[in-house]
Amino acid sequence: MRSSTLVFLWLLAACTPPTPVGPDVSVRPSWAQDVAPLVSQHCSACHVEGGVAPFALTTYAQAQSMAGAMAAATAAKRMPPWMPSGATPALEHARALSAEQIAVFQTWFELNAPEGDTASPAALPPPEQVRFEAPDLSVDIGVDYVPDARVSDDYRCFLVDLALPGDRMAAALRVTPGNRKTVHHVIATLFDASDRAALESIDAASAGPGWQCFGGPVPNASGVQPAGALGSWVPGVTAVRYPAGTGVKVAGGSLVVMQVHYNLAGGVDPDRTRLELEFAAPATESTLQPISAVPLARLNLAIPPGSTGWVEEQTLPARTWARNRFYPDGDGWVIGVAGHMHTRGQRFQILRTSGGVESTLLDIPAWDFHWQGSYVFKEPVQLLPADNLTVRCTFENPGATTITWGEGTADEMCLANLQVVDQRP
Ligand code: HEC
Repeated sequence: MRSSTLVFLWLLAACTPPTPVGPDVSVRPSWAQDVAPLVSQHCSACHVEGGVAPFALTTYAQAQSMAGAMAAATAAKRMPPWMPSGATPALEHARALSAEQIAVFQTWFELNAPEGDTASPAALPPPEQVRFEAPDLSVDIGVDYVPDARVSDDYRCFLVDLALPGDRMAAALRVTPGNRKTVHHVIATLFDASDRAALESIDAASAGPGWQCFGGPVPNASGVQPAGALGSWVPGVTAVRYPAGTGVKVAGGSLVVMQVHYNLAGGVDPDRTRLELEFAAPATESTLQPISAVPLARLNLAIPPGSTGWVEEQTLPARTWARNRFYPDGDGWVIGVAGHMHTRGQRFQILRTSGGVESTLLDIPAWDFHWQGSYVFKEPVQLLPADNLTVRCTFENPGATTITWGEGTADEMCLANLQVVDQRP
């Protein structure tokens, strides 16, 4: 072998990093320096005493005993719960861990979860806080509700009168669960004053406070249509502030249906969930753009028995989905998105095709009914009237009968919701 070749091989060997075997011991993550800040930022919203998660991760002792489970749950991306994939445009309050952060949990566990230098711990990042001034309006579900102990998940709707004398623009919303162990999510939907009698009769037709509502705020058969979406709450959310320059119009006399999902794994202690609104200053109200909800649905579902990876989808131009109801021609800016299926959903997507180019507005590759939420874009996405919008739902049906659209737990839905304003906010 010529010496130049040898030199070359030597150089190659010197430059090629050794194949990693086991944990990278040059990086020795510890609780005090590395893991506690990650837990504080990404886990503590739920893993605290009295929180929605079944155990706290506040102290070293608690985390040490769970180190293996934490490594496994983060590597499998079960934790923290965050459904949208990277194909979705950048989202506010994104919770997913980076590959490097997942590696910290992994290596820390493999090194037997060292506590590190407790004399000089790393500073804990402050919990994410959404600014919420004093509430202008504060209502609750009206009863100390004791969830139905016969089921594992109780979906209950409560009719709440905002008693608002005139129209206002809401700037922010805060939902405070009365029982953080059981309240898993809350969706607040607005209805017009003219629907009061219909809503009261839905309430009266059902025994006990409120009514059972798995698939949506009101039964389809009632014919009552929501006037708008106020917002939703999932564990970890402190408040929801609509993007600057926008707001949700709340008409005088409006009613709200609060759908509360109780997960009975947290017990059956009573709950009295509260809803608060902060209104825009009256002088600025007229300058704010009202946020419109544009629903996209695939209604005629027929998911055959024994199927998996079964796709149901609907594509229409933006102007058709908007039905000219919200803005004149289907031209607008999408500021947020949400998706809804039941428990047989596998994947959820909202796609836009503009000038022949397809892009993703929401992609949830592993649907989990328990962690559905609504998402706010960091940058709004423009919609043109001729853009095609697709809602695509992938299902499995292990049962023996065809699954169709409906509100029951055994039925399915394929429903997207876009939050749209007319001008770029
Ligand atoms: C939004 C609330 C929430 C956040 C944030 C969260 N968890 Fe959880 N976690 C839960 C709940 C609720 C459970 C109980 C099981 C379930 O419902 O999925 C759980 C269960 C677990 C479990 C046991 C079950 C399993 O899947 O292995 C581990 C371990 C865990 N979480 C670790 C973490 C870690 C580590 C973080 C942060 C990186 C985190 N969690 C963030 C809510 C949360």
